[in-house]
Amino acid sequence: VEKTLILVKPDAFARGLTGEILARFERKGLKIAALKQTTLTVEIAETHYGEHQGKPFFGELVEFITSGPLVAAILEGESAIKAARQVIGATNPLEAATGSIRGDFAIEVGTNLVHGSDSPEAGVREAGIFFPELS
Ligand code: GTP
Ligand code: MG
Repeated sequence: VEKTLILVKPDAFARGLTGEILARFERKGLKIAALKQTTLTVEIAETHYGEHQGKPFFGELVEFITSGPLVAAILEGESAIKAARQVIGATNPLEAATGSIRGDFAIEVGTNLVHGSDSPEAGVREAGIFFPELS
């Protein structure tokens, strides 16, 4: 069964949207296999978002994702990667469909509430970063 790593980012956590967001994934049919609250170090943030190193927004991205507590979860299910990204919506909230998390609750790309792995390989890699005790 496929696994995806999702993050309820610090903006969503601070706004009290954690329950709403997790409920949307559960309602879709994804199962919570692991769940924790944590605050990322710069080192872990740079590892997690390593593919974006060198991009103009990288510094802002790391600063934002380390700015406060977040919730990390491993979700399991058939086509979990694609299913979770459909629930999350497009990267730019102004282009995300109404009914998606970003479409319903966000405006700015830098504060877009949720992360979801973008491939099965990324799902395994990211699950290992956030839940090393399980791998
Ligand atoms: P994640 O699930 O968070 O990985 O989002 P994504 O897969 O939809 O987008 P991507 O991996 O391409 O970018 C990672 C994150 O970087 C996004 O979620 C945004 O928060 C941020 N980001 C992407 N592009 C920009 C940008 O142009 N400006 C800023 N400030 N942030 C950006
Ligand atoms: Mg991404």
